Amino acid sequence: MKIRMGVIGAGKISQVLHIPNILFSKYAELKCITDKDRRRVEEIKDRFGLKNVDYYDDYHELLKREDLDAVVVSVPNFLHSEVTVDALNNGKHVLVEKPMATKSSDAEKMIETMRRNHRILMVNHSQRFFPHHQKAREMLNSGLLGEIRLVKTMFGHSGPENWSSSAGWFFKKDTANFGALGDLGVHKIDLIRYLTGLEITECVAITDTLEKNADVEDVASVILKLSNGAIATLDSNWITKGLEENYFVVYGEYGTMKIGQTTPSKIDIFLSKPVEFHGEITLAPLFTNKDSYWKMPVIDHFAKVCLRYEKPIVEPEDGYIAIKIIEKILESSSNKKFVNILD
Ligand SMILES: NC(=O)c1ccc[n+]([C@@H]2O[C@H](COP(=O)([O-])OP(=O)(O)OC[C@H]3O[C@@H](n4cnc5c(N)ncnc54)[C@H](O)[C@@H]3O)[C@@H](O)[C@H]2O)c1
Repeated sequence: MKIRMGVIGAGKISQVLHIPNILFSKYAELKCITDKDRRRVEEIKDRFGLKNVDYYDDYHELLKREDLDAVVVSVPNFLHSEVTVDALNNGKHVLVEKPMATKSSDAEKMIETMRRNHRILMVNHSQRFFPHHQKAREMLNSGLLGEIRLVKTMFGHSGPENWSSSAGWFFKKDTANFGALGDLGVHKIDLIRYLTGLEITECVAITDTLEKNADVEDVASVILKLSNGAIATLDSNWITKGLEENYFVVYGEYGTMKIGQTTPSKIDIFLSKPVEFHGEITLAPLFTNKDSYWKMPVIDHFAKVCLRYEKPIVEPEDGYIAIKIIEKILESSSNKKFVNILD
């Protein structure tokens, strides 16, 4: 059985991730695409040679279709909540891109609409799906490092203008609301919770716009307190020249685990107890720059969740919590104060 899917927003992430993965999925089938920019649709037709796929300029028309089970929402951030709520109210399951919404109150509304309509709502916290993150989580949960004391994580690259030809909206508060924090930091905020199993309880941060012509932050340096008393430092920015920085390091009672820091997809492990040990695990990456698309299990997993074959790896509350934490980080930076996340 296949989930019949529509894609709302045919920009970069739909082209490299969602559309090809639906096309190659055993559990999903592409029925229709909408983008308000016709050129995007033409790009897709050329690139994928699609047959039997319908196109719409207005997503409301797509949502009226009764032969659709689910949609991917991959439009600019400020539309995530509105489009998701409309889709759920039209009886569709939704996979919405990160950040889930531009306000935590909107994320709450999305969750409430999902519950009322008894649909699936998943947020594409895509980094959870990387094999080295899955493996690291398993090892951390086994207690290999003992008590976690410190986490150091970073996600930085040279900016969305080097990613999408329609990236202008990423730099504006009214269309993105968050800058590097909503684009990149959100992945690591989510991973802190997912990999360690700890909650984030407090933050202090400095954010700024140092380089881009933007009214959102292009640099954020954050210190977080975790629920067991550990500390986490998080850097996210759009000012990193050269190769992107995308790693997660955990310092524990018995050792250190470097996840994707020395080499992408590699985990370095240093233990002092119960025996001195230094080892490494290199997991095959899901895709490399040579691949024409991101071979990730996000779509397959979402479709299987809709079919009730699997339990969701990402709950909608995870998306909400990530937004709430970003709001608190920005509050800390603007008030120059420690902020309690739970207030
Ligand atoms: N999970 C990830 O790893 C990941 C990676 C990159 C981007 N994203 C997220 O995906 C979303 C889209 O990002 P992108 O890089 O593809 O941006 P993009 O600018 O390349 O694409 C957005 C598309 O939405 C279209 N659009 C705008 N308003 C619309 C409307 N009302 N109806 C239909 N289409 C509309 C635009 O014409 C454009 O083609 C963002 O929220 C971004 O944060 C997630």
